[in-house]
Amino acid sequence: MDLRDEARKAQQTARDEILSSKSLDDLKSARTKHLGRKGVLTLLLRKLGQAAPDERKELGRLLNEAKDELLGLVDSRTDELKQATYASDLTGESLDVTLPGRKFRTGRRNLAVEMMNKIVDVFVGMGFTSVEGPEIETEYNNFDALNFPAWHPSRDDHDSFYVGEGHVLRTHTSPAQIRVMKSQPPPVRVVVPGRCHRRDTPDASHLMSFLQIEGLYVDHDVSMADLKGTLAAFAREIYGEETKVRFRPHFFPFTEPSAELDISCLVCGGKGCRLCKQSGWLEVLGCGMVHPNVYKHVGYDSLGVTGYAFGMGVERVAMLKYGIGDIRMLYDNDLRFLSQF
Ligand code: PHE
Repeated sequence: MDLRDEARKAQQTARDEILSSKSLDDLKSARTKHLGRKGVLTLLLRKLGQAAPDERKELGRLLNEAKDELLGLVDSRTDELKQATYASDLTGESLDVTLPGRKFRTGRRNLAVEMMNKIVDVFVGMGFTSVEGPEIETEYNNFDALNFPAWHPSRDDHDSFYVGEGHVLRTHTSPAQIRVMKSQPPPVRVVVPGRCHRRDTPDASHLMSFLQIEGLYVDHDVSMADLKGTLAAFAREIYGEETKVRFRPHFFPFTEPSAELDISCLVCGGKGCRLCKQSGWLEVLGCGMVHPNVYKHVGYDSLGVTGYAFGMGVERVAMLKYGIGDIRMLYDNDLRFLSQF
């Protein structure tokens, strides 16, 4: 086979391989194989010296034309293959704007915390200021200053969590009364939301950790009528306009007289049913007029002031409002329950 035929054959093979390359990598190796430094065409060009002088010129032209053609083909095939890659990338990553969006599930506050904020709002609306106290309290603030005698059963370490000498996890928000009165002169009008702890075995109406809201109003000439009016307004705000209230005598060491506030039963309206155990009433909170001994502990005793205090369990207020039969459901973290409210 003479050099001319060899050149034509080599050109044809190279052309075929370039045009049929399926990827940029294929193309690159075809290019090296045929047009590279050790490529078939390059070797042929080197063999030119062996050709007869009259053929040399024509053969040289032939080989150079072949090289030009093949380089052109490599360029155009490169473009084609790049285009194809872009196109397939695009289909692979395509975005279907007609698909429905994904829903974001946003979290929310627990019902008890929502209730707490709502109750605070009601009292802020009546002129109270919201303040907070610590969950680890002195035994003095939690009990002594509130006129609890040393032998009182709730001081027992079977009933309260003691944390080191003289400190206790507050069993109610009432010690905040002491802190507030010690920190400022009257008039005082505050609500104190916060977490409390008692050594109770959890059941349908008790938890070891629960929320309370304390209320305290001390000024000149504050009477029990003020207490009744304010709490009746609170009850109507939370439970509805038709809600009736009654104040039932009770006992707390730090108020005198003391009372419990009942509301007319939310199920039967007062006629008597299973929820209110046929009484027509539901117990909501404790309250009373601040005991003179408490004023002694905070240095208010010579000021001639009077005042009232109240304290409520937030979970209980919520349970009554929504007809929840078991306090533990509030903290089980079952969204099927919690998302109903
Ligand atoms: N601290 C009382 C309790 O936890 C409630 C209360 C507060 C009663 C203020 C009277 C006045 O039971």
